[in-house]
Amino acid sequence: METKWLRVSAAPDDPEGLERDPAVVEAAAYLRKGELVAFPTETVYGLGGNALDPRAVAKIYEAKGRPPDNPLIVHLADAAQLAAVARSVPKAARRLIDAFWPGPLTLVLPKREGVPLRTTGGLDTVAVRMPAHPAALALLRLAEVPVAAPSANRSGRPSPTTAAHVWEDLAGRIPVLLDGGAATVGVESTVVDVGGDRPVILRPGGIGPEELAEVLGTEVELDPSWSEPVERPKAPGMKYRHYAPEGTLYLVVGDVAAARREILRRAEAERKAGRKVGILTTEEGRSWYPAPFYAVACGRREDLSSVAAALFAALREFDRAGCDVIFAEPFPAAGVGWAVVNRLLKAAGHRVIRV
Ligand code: TXA
Ligand code: MG
Repeated sequence: METKWLRVSAAPDDPEGLERDPAVVEAAAYLRKGELVAFPTETVYGLGGNALDPRAVAKIYEAKGRPPDNPLIVHLADAAQLAAVARSVPKAARRLIDAFWPGPLTLVLPKREGVPLRTTGGLDTVAVRMPAHPAALALLRLAEVPVAAPSANRSGRPSPTTAAHVWEDLAGRIPVLLDGGAATVGVESTVVDVGGDRPVILRPGGIGPEELAEVLGTEVELDPSWSEPVERPKAPGMKYRHYAPEGTLYLVVGDVAAARREILRRAEAERKAGRKVGILTTEEGRSWYPAPFYAVACGRREDLSSVAAALFAALREFDRAGCDVIFAEPFPAAGVGWAVVNRLLKAAGHRVIRV
């Protein structure tokens, strides 16, 4: 199949212009006829299909090579659309929606019967979010249906934060790629289950646990799968190896200065053994690692949101450079840092070096 690359040209601050934008209009027509569209969101690019059409949803799993028990997130044009997919919305969910939608927050809610089990991986709950991306919202309004969308990468690869990343993974496998520029958040949404006595984060993401706790006025736990391999995590996607570059990645944890010394020592040994070494650092650390080490500056340490925004592109760069082994500096688990550390742990297959 040939993939059409359609570029959004209307300005982001012009919602009506976006609804008339030929690229958005054409992409929405594909969604309405049950076809797939890769589209931008503020977190990562999504691969969308009509969430209520099991045949469209089946195409998503096929294009990604995604395991069938890994449920999809349903994207809404506004909170009013919730009634079409969720049986009920607990009070805590309502408060989070008021505070964070549109935005990188996904809520797990009891599903309505009309939502196919294909969409929810067989679960009787449905994950929903309203993305904070003007072109995505225009597309969702024109599509007139809730849109199921996992990240638009081949299963196991780093999530795509640019249209070019989507192209790398899915060209020839989907009919349409809607290009709306680079994602700004850079890691996926925070997935929260509000169905129990206490809210639990099933996957850390763009919104930190601290921010959720502040709105709810209660502690918000993270499911243990955020940092350790769990056989049956509550978010099924957390059990899969993910984000992995082709080289072997190690995450160093502990004090940053000690981590840099340890990375240099190991990098030198790897180089002597004839392997190409990649290092994931930040602007602040770049000068630590001279050539021939392949150091990628992933944002600025003093601003973790810049690290999150650059993370997946950095992981893809190591593949492009052909690195055999990669060392990643430590990052603090705070705010969006929880998500950064979680993605690095997964990319490393939980290979951790403690200093
Ligand atoms: O930011 C995002 O969330 C992006 C953009 C495209 O919106 N989407 C995304 O989707 O990251 P995906 O499919 O890559 O990740 C969905 C995660 C998986 O870990 C999945 O297991 C979990 O959400 N999930 C989906 N439905 C669930 C449910 N009913 N119960 C528990 N976890 C669920
Ligand atoms: Mg994904």
